[in-house]
Amino acid sequence: MIYIYPFSNEYIDTTHRILLDEDLRKLFLLNRKIGYEDNKKFWESYLLNPNNNKVFAILEDSEHIGNCGLKNINNNCAEFWIYLEKKYWGLGYGNIVMKKLIENNFFRNDLDEVYAFVDIINKRSISLFEKNGFHKKDKVRINDNTVIKMTLKR
Ligand SMILES: CC(C)(COP(=O)(O)OP(=O)(O)OC[C@H]1O[C@@H](n2cnc3c(N)ncnc32)[C@H](O)[C@@H]1OP(=O)(O)O)[C@@H](O)C(=O)NCCC(=O)NCCS
Repeated sequence: MIYIYPFSNEYIDTTHRILLDEDLRKLFLLNRKIGYEDNKKFWESYLLNPNNNKVFAILEDSEHIGNCGLKNINNNCAEFWIYLEKKYWGLGYGNIVMKKLIENNFFRNDLDEVYAFVDIINKRSISLFEKNGFHKKDKVRINDNTVIKMTLKR
């Protein structure tokens, strides 16, 4: 069973472990490995002051398997992001998470635009987002990758 909970201290170390995977970082457009202390500082600071971010942990039963969230929530726009630990890719969990987020109005009707950046090689994400109401907009370059901006249809 998949659960989605607000991010908290107990998910900091597992997040560090999940992000050690180089293939995940590449698809997630993270261009560097994140050290244990940097990860801890980042999340402790988020928990003290989320600013314009909202993060949720994704669990399969009691196991923390990924995170998702909105960032840069500004002027009624926000960027959506999601990652799962590599061993869970392609098993349908992404779709389950998206359905739950939509059901719970995670993408907030008051936001005029929700967008995501997806590498053009990332077929799984493109398919996941398209299946759940996003459509392809412009191509942009991020960290030497060609990336498609996808926006949620309103
Ligand atoms: C993106 C991610 C969350 C998707 O979750 P997932 O559980 O792997 O996705 P699902 O198994 O639900 O599959 C999603 C879609 O990809 C398709 N798919 C699965 N494996 C695939 C593969 N190897 N190649 C192409 N498509 C694939 C599925 O058929 C499904 O499409 P459908 O619903 O039209 O059938 C996950 O793969 C991930 O963490 N990737 C790395 C991080 C990332 O890329 N994040 C997105 C950018 S923010």
